[in-house]
Amino acid sequence: MTKPLSGPVMCIVGARPNFMKMAPILRAFTAHEPPIPALLVHTGQHYDASMSDQLFEDLQLPRPDLNLEVGSGSHAVQTAEVMKRIEPAIDEHKPACVLVVGDVNSTLACTLVAVKKGVPVVHVEAGLRSGDRRMPEEINRVLTDQVADRLYTTERSAADHLAREGIADARICFAGNVMIDSLLSHKPRARPPAETLAAHGADPALVGAAAGYGVVTLHRPSNVDDAATLESLLGVLREVSETLPLVFALHPRTRGNIQRFGLEKLVTGGRIALLPPQGYLEMLGLMAGATVVLTDSGGLQEETTALGVPCLTLRENTERPITIAEGTNTMVGRDVQAIRDGVAVILAGQGKRGRVPERWDGRAAERIAADLYRWLADDPR
Ligand code: UD1
Repeated sequence: MTKPLSGPVMCIVGARPNFMKMAPILRAFTAHEPPIPALLVHTGQHYDASMSDQLFEDLQLPRPDLNLEVGSGSHAVQTAEVMKRIEPAIDEHKPACVLVVGDVNSTLACTLVAVKKGVPVVHVEAGLRSGDRRMPEEINRVLTDQVADRLYTTERSAADHLAREGIADARICFAGNVMIDSLLSHKPRARPPAETLAAHGADPALVGAAAGYGVVTLHRPSNVDDAATLESLLGVLREVSETLPLVFALHPRTRGNIQRFGLEKLVTGGRIALLPPQGYLEMLGLMAGATVVLTDSGGLQEETTALGVPCLTLRENTERPITIAEGTNTMVGRDVQAIRDGVAVILAGQGKRGRVPERWDGRAAERIAADLYRWLADDPR
């Protein structure tokens, strides 16, 4: 006999990188026997159509049951607003647990509220560590993991970090990478890159050159909030674009700073196609066809590894070391010569080919659903 759960699993999404992680989890909950009831809450941390609605559509995510509409603000304001608004929702819906993904402010805010109300917290993508506590995401990761009751990891090194932080092994389950579940299931529907460029009035020939093209994303405060750093990164990208055309999908933070610092001249004209934030299927198509991806995103480091496309990470550290050890990722930091050299190696055909890490097989969400159901049926409280 199957025991009913004490309430729904309250699933939290807030910002763009959460959506591709939650979509396969919700599908696996529906497919589970018996189905696991879910209540989808969008905190509204990301609210632009291009940062949120478009991804819901591409990923066939159901409409959120609740939208907390917190919007932008300082870290304190954003975190506090999510906390204030999630509390009555937890009171009203009495979830069996709150499930959070990733490392954004919404992840930590909902975790703090749930744990203090005695509601179990489940963290998907636990145990990743960059070792850099200046990153807001690192603080969100460490604190969420410390109080979460059930932790699902994407790579084996995560369990070592958790063990060092005193988290009992019994709380941890190595499920694999749900973001790669999304990638594998949507890859057949990826949009051809030339179509994506044409749709935004950019020249589709840029992605048809013999050398191929590069894809760029940058949005980390450490790269884009300081004028000199951003100028130097855009300068080297401009230089790279003379050999390899670039498609640059601009995060709103980056677009704003380029204007504020008067750096438009570095990215306009020439062989750089500037696009607004892209939908999931567009980004997938752009990455899959690229010669190289230059990024400071966490997600793209993993997606390029799964696609077998060389990635140069414009950061000094990564919380996803398996993409370096086994995948296609190389850290180049913000050093312009290292970026130039990294591109040259790839253009010479010597980029990393890598292999797909263990349990990045499209079935991570299914493993989570099976484990979570057993765990909840045992009544973790
Ligand atoms: C957040 C996450 C980061 C993730 C990134 C993906 C945290 C601490 N950071 O950073 O881990 O990699 O999302 O995009 O949670 N803005 C808009 N429209 C939107 C959303 C944001 O214009 O829909 C602009 C606003 O000016 C806002 C700024 O972007 O102030 C930053 O947004 P915010 O959610 O604070 O952080 P991100 O930089 O997007």
